[in-house]
Amino acid sequence: MPKTVAVVTGSNKGIGFAIVRALCKNFDGDVYLTARDEGRGQQAVQDLEKENLHPKFHQLDINSKESIGKLKEFLEKNYGGLDILVNNAAIAYKANSTAPFAEQADVSMRCNFFGTLDVCHALFPLLRPHSRVVNVASRGGIASFKKLSQQLAEQFQSDSLTESQLIGLMNRFVSDTKAGDHQAKGWANSAYGATKLGVIALTAIQARALKDDPREDTLINACCPGYVDTDMSSHKGTKTPDEGAITPVYLALLPPNTTAPQGEMVAEKEILKWKTR
Ligand SMILES: NC(=O)c1ccc[n+]([C@@H]2O[C@H](COP(=O)([O-])OP(=O)(O)OC[C@H]3O[C@@H](n4cnc5c(N)ncnc54)[C@H](OP(=O)(O)O)[C@@H]3O)[C@@H](O)[C@H]2O)c1
Repeated sequence: MPKTVAVVTGSNKGIGFAIVRALCKNFDGDVYLTARDEGRGQQAVQDLEKENLHPKFHQLDINSKESIGKLKEFLEKNYGGLDILVNNAAIAYKANSTAPFAEQADVSMRCNFFGTLDVCHALFPLLRPHSRVVNVASRGGIASFKKLSQQLAEQFQSDSLTESQLIGLMNRFVSDTKAGDHQAKGWANSAYGATKLGVIALTAIQARALKDDPREDTLINACCPGYVDTDMSSHKGTKTPDEGAITPVYLALLPPNTTAPQGEMVAEKEILKWKTR
C-alpha cells in the first residue's frame, strides 16, 4: 500500500499552520506543510517539531505554475497519488490599503481564484479514491453573492454553470474594476469577496464533475473558518487559528464512504445554504 499523503497550501502561518498541526495529530499519513517562501516554511516546520509533530515540507507558490508542477512531480514520484488537499493559501488587502481597487481585484483574483484553480488542475489527477479536497473560502464570498445583480446571481447559482463560464465571470469582474464600473455592472464592491465567491462556485462545479469520475468516494467542499486571529484579520478575529482549523479539518477527515457534504459551503461543520433558490 502506498503511503497516504496530505497537502495544505499556504501553511507556514495562520489557519493553514493550524490545519497542518491538527492533521499531524489526526491523519495517519504524511502531512506536507507548504509555503511560497522556503525559509518561512522551514521555520514553521521547526515550530511544529517543538510540539513533537513531524510535518514534511515542500515549497509551493500557488501563483507559479512551475512551483505547482514541481510539487505535482514530487507527489507522483514519492507517493503515486494524493489523499487530502486543503486549498488554504490566499491574500486579502487591508481595508486601508491605498492600492487602486482594480489592482486589488487583479492581484487577489490571480492568487485566491486562479492560483487555487491551477493547483486543482495540477493535483486532481493525483487524487486517489476516498480523497478529500477542502477549498478554504469565506462567508465574505456569500456576502458578495447577496449583493450581485439578479442576472449575475442567477449565473453564479446555476447548476449548469461550467468552469470556463466561471472563469469568464471572474475575468469580467477584474476587467469591470479596471473600467471603474464594476458596481454599475452588478458586482459587490469587494475584491476579496469576489474571489471567494468564485471559490465557492468552483467547488460546486468540481463536485458535479466528480459524479462522472471513476474514482469512488471523493469529496470536495468549500468552507469558512470563521473570524480568526491571524495576520489576515490584523489579529482582530475572535477565534484562535486552532479553532479556525476545526471545520477545514473536519472536512479533510470525513470518514471513508461518506456521501455528504459534497460540493457545499460549510461553516461550523454545518452546510451554509447560500443560493437564493
Ligand atoms: N482570518 C480570517 O478571519 C479568515 C476568515 C475567512 C476566511 N479566511 C481564509 O482562511 C485562509 C487562511 O487565512 P489566514 O487568516 O490564515 O491568512 P494569513 O495568516 O494571511 O495566511 C495566509 C497564508 O497563505 C499564504 N499565501 C499567500 N499567497 C500565497 C501564494 N501565492 N502561494 C502560497 N501561499 C500563499 C501566506 O504565505 P506568506 O506567509 O508567504 O504570505 C500564508 O501562509 C485564507 O483562504 C483566508 O481567505 C480567513
